[in-house]
Amino acid sequence: MADLSTTVNGLKMPNPFVIGSGPPGTNANVIGKAFDEGWGAVIAKTISLEAEKVINVQPRYARLRSRESREIFGWENIELISDRSFETWLDEFKSLKDKYPDRILIASIMEEYRKDAWCEITEKCQDVGVDAFELNFSCPHGLPERKMGSAMGIDPDMVEEVTGWVMDVAKIPVWAKMTPNVTHIEDPTSAALRSGADGIAAINTIRSVLGVDLKSLRPEPCVEGYTTPGGYSCQAVKPIALRNCMEIATLIKNEFPGRTLSGIGGVETGHDAAEFILLGSDTVQVCTGVMKMGYGMVKPMIEQLSEFMDEHGFSTIDDFRGHSLQFFKTHAELVEIQAEARAKKKAAHAAKKAAEAGDGADEKMIREDAQWTGDDFVDQSDALSRG
Ligand SMILES: Cc1cc2nc3c(=O)[nH]c(=O)nc-3n(C[C@H](O)[C@H](O)[C@H](O)COP(=O)(O)O)c2cc1C
Repeated sequence: MADLSTTVNGLKMPNPFVIGSGPPGTNANVIGKAFDEGWGAVIAKTISLEAEKVINVQPRYARLRSRESREIFGWENIELISDRSFETWLDEFKSLKDKYPDRILIASIMEEYRKDAWCEITEKCQDVGVDAFELNFSCPHGLPERKMGSAMGIDPDMVEEVTGWVMDVAKIPVWAKMTPNVTHIEDPTSAALRSGADGIAAINTIRSVLGVDLKSLRPEPCVEGYTTPGGYSCQAVKPIALRNCMEIATLIKNEFPGRTLSGIGGVETGHDAAEFILLGSDTVQVCTGVMKMGYGMVKPMIEQLSEFMDEHGFSTIDDFRGHSLQFFKTHAELVEIQAEARAKKKAAHAAKKAAEAGDGADEKMIREDAQWTGDDFVDQSDALSRG
């Protein structure tokens, strides 16, 4: 039976499933519930020193559903960080650590571009016993006028400087959470790692407009008739999150060995988690999934990840973390590799064998782009998605 327990930056967790910062970690009650249900760690909703400056609107979510099954696969939010007071949070962190001394509680913090503010929030949170920090450099909406969240996270110089301020006073592990709303996520990632961050978390939500209501002609979510671009999450963002995690994990492997990665974005099953781990994640966070399915979802996730590990003979997370990174190449390399493979196949008369095995239909189907006709366009596209 696979062993899912893992130690990341010295933090001992029963499994790699972490509640991502957001509504599922919005107060001590729900954080306690997450620990009781068996989550490996919890990252609380992002906090700041001056909660009174944080003013939310309603509705603040809009959801995209599949046409047929009506399942939610995309979720936009325009929710800000926590509007609960900093002092209340300190009390709740303390009481949580008193009640769950062995469980990992991570404070997500965000502040203005001022050294004194970042040092104060870091010192006060660690004094009440949280186990680690996640620096929110990544919330895509709200608070840009205060240069907070992704307004800071898109600027590698600022990320480097602010991470340095925190590292000077932090006595516990620090992860920096990255925004995908940049061209090269490696730039802010390297900046945080250069300043000594112990790990990276990625991704936060993707800047989005969920849709326009065709009756009212108003975009969603609609607040008194108006909206503002928000952050996109849920199943639909998983491919983008996996790509970002692959890039970050490759950078860590090549330039910052020993630093860690917490993968986030569209995770809902143990198999989703396995994919993030195969691409180099040490832990896997879930936020929107919990809003869809509740805290109990961790149990089937644990079961499915264990089954996957047993099937492949992996005893621990270490046995397969980053295994699939080796299979990424440049497109030019793919062309070379395929030319070589095709030449070998030809030499061995593999085409004949493939035809016998029933692959012939696909080979006939794949034509040069110039020969495509509109009649069998869908079949052509389908054939190109097979090997
Ligand atoms: C409603 C909502 C609120 C969120 N609030 C925060 C937050 O306060 N701090 C933060 O770092 N990320 C926040 N996030 C981002 C999530 O932690 C996560 O990075 C993102 O949603 C992608 O993961 P998911 O698909 O599992 O939700 C929020 C996400 C949602 C949907």
